[in-house]
Amino acid sequence: MDKTDPLASPSDRAAYEALAREILEHDRRYYVDNAPIVTDPEYDRLRKRLERTEAEHPDWVVPWSPTQRVGHEPLSAFRKVVREVPMLSLDNTYSEGDLREWHDRVLRGLGPGVLPTYVVEPKIDGIGIELVYEKGVFTLGATRGDGRVGEDVTQNLKTIQVLPLHLPEPIDVTVRGEVYMERAVFVAINREREAAGEEAYMNPRNLTGGTLKQLDPRLVARRPLKLFLYEVVGEVHARTHWEALGWMRRLGFPVWKDIVHAATIDDVLAAIHRWGKRRAELPFDIDGIVIKVDSFAQRAELGFTARWPRWAIAYKFPASQATTRVLGLEVNVGRTGAVTPVALLEPVELAGTTVARASLHNWDLVATKDVRIGDSVVVEKAGEIIPQVVSVLHERRPPDAVPLEPPRVCPSCGAELVRHPGEVALYCPRDQYGCQGQLEEAITFFAARGNMNIEGLGPKLVAQLVAHGLVQDVADLYRLTVDDLVKLERMAKKSATNIIQAIERSREAPLDRLIAALGIQLIGHVAAQAVAERFGSLEAMLGLAPEALREALLEVPGFAAERASAVAEYFAQPRHREMLGRLRERGVDPRVLQREAASGPLVGKSFVVTGTLSVPRPEMQRRIEAAGGKFQSAVTKATSYVVAGADVGAAKLEKAKKLGVPVIDEAGLGAMIEGRAGEGEGGGEGGG
Ligand code: IVH
Repeated sequence: MDKTDPLASPSDRAAYEALAREILEHDRRYYVDNAPIVTDPEYDRLRKRLERTEAEHPDWVVPWSPTQRVGHEPLSAFRKVVREVPMLSLDNTYSEGDLREWHDRVLRGLGPGVLPTYVVEPKIDGIGIELVYEKGVFTLGATRGDGRVGEDVTQNLKTIQVLPLHLPEPIDVTVRGEVYMERAVFVAINREREAAGEEAYMNPRNLTGGTLKQLDPRLVARRPLKLFLYEVVGEVHARTHWEALGWMRRLGFPVWKDIVHAATIDDVLAAIHRWGKRRAELPFDIDGIVIKVDSFAQRAELGFTARWPRWAIAYKFPASQATTRVLGLEVNVGRTGAVTPVALLEPVELAGTTVARASLHNWDLVATKDVRIGDSVVVEKAGEIIPQVVSVLHERRPPDAVPLEPPRVCPSCGAELVRHPGEVALYCPRDQYGCQGQLEEAITFFAARGNMNIEGLGPKLVAQLVAHGLVQDVADLYRLTVDDLVKLERMAKKSATNIIQAIERSREAPLDRLIAALGIQLIGHVAAQAVAERFGSLEAMLGLAPEALREALLEVPGFAAERASAVAEYFAQPRHREMLGRLRERGVDPRVLQREAASGPLVGKSFVVTGTLSVPRPEMQRRIEAAGGKFQSAVTKATSYVVAGADVGAAKLEKAKKLGVPVIDEAGLGAMIEGRAGEGEGGGEGGG
């Protein structure tokens, strides 16, 4: 390789593969060891060189290349994988006494005079998976499933940055471990979902499972999953588990760094206590500790039951669950109009806080679980979310328990509730202009942290503002005065001034936060950011007719028909337009600095690329954008050209024809980029 020109492409295949391996090695040092040995710009240069080489020699691209972590095409279903060595479960204990009994069983199993040592690992609360490497290349990744039959989720697992795609040695090896999601990521994704009016996931484990089952790996790549490996399957060149873990680490597998080697059962217990205390500091959930016999010879001696190995056991931490009684039912209307049940509880201690309310999620769940007033229930706290009712202790039900009936009318405005087909929630048919409850929620949401960040403007104050007729929508917040506020209950001049100042400051909120704060269906922070970047101002959006706005929204990254329509419909409503107008008049009109206008022969033209081309799609996109053109994923009326490669789908061509969009071939595009062809020329126009 030519070291003097970092952008020079490798001249042969072997050099290309060496470059790919070098980048994977840097990825491992960065993601697994947290100890990179190159600077970011150096790394970026290597990456660029690889991408260029791959664009020039598409036939060289290896499936384990670092560019191949995100596969391009969604699957239609997961293939079943039948494994020879089933993935077993673990026996559980919840007490020190039980753990000592297990140790005694191990001692008896090994016979007199043999003393086991143990390896103590965290029991990560994620999804069990198995990874198969052939000649050092990652070829198959499957979920545990029922232990024997799992699902092939190779494409999705490849998106996990710490998963080695290529090992430093050309060996055949199968390893097992746990895919999980960090709590912070879980909380962020749930916030996003809730903001978009979607149902939140129960815990990081469910979200991990749901993510692995996504058929589109591009969606998986947007939800950063993590991985720890803890077992090697089959033949290992090690005598002990401890050695095997070291060997796995050397191969670049992510292995938990603080695994403990314990010489006695007392050492095991000491490690468990230490972990129990540190549990909350970990960025991910562990539901216990796994204790494993270290020696493989001793493991073979002990063997398995039908369900789990006799040489390992899980010590489970007491869950953050408690039992209490349901005292009543509260019915709330949210800002989207969804009417949800909340159980009022006899206050109970749960993971350090007193809990008096718990979510029942939806009315179907109330019916399935058959929760009644007077029932004893088990409540649980998951992550940062409010506690939930997990189960009902039916055997303790008092004879006078009262069933919880779903309400027929909105608790706030009294309108008769409706049910949307295919949804479990009950909805108030009005919106914030007809239902005070929804209005209060909408304003509270607007002011919340992460949205407009108006400190001090919480639900109680909002309720008063609405009740006094001071605020009828969020734009009214911006004409409130200190005098308005001091007339309210328990509002001193000082706090009134603070709140008015906080409202003043929120005028500076960036456009994406303002858009997110409006609470448009399906638009959370990520989507709002994309919209803000695309349009740059409210003015730009209000200036487009509804259909034009919808079309433009379809070009926003991550926007399919549903999202585009949700935003377009919001902006089409006269009431919203009028309110946004008042917001702007009152100085809430943030702008995004637009990127410099593109230049080049393709400026003002947009392209949809379809079929097989001589270079990968991302490269095609790069070329089009470098020439000032716009790269689109779907053909619309606004598309200037469809660039058709080999074996192009009939549907796309049909659509182009219907919309009157000219179809050109790759050579035609090349000519336009080089400025050799004018408008409408190129290869073979029209359908075809
Ligand atoms: S060993 C035959 N080690 O817990 C050995 N499992 O409840 C079984 N798990 O199916 C696996 N952390 O998905 C092992 N350090 C760890 C683990 C672990 C989490 C999961 C695994 C297993 C489940 C059993």
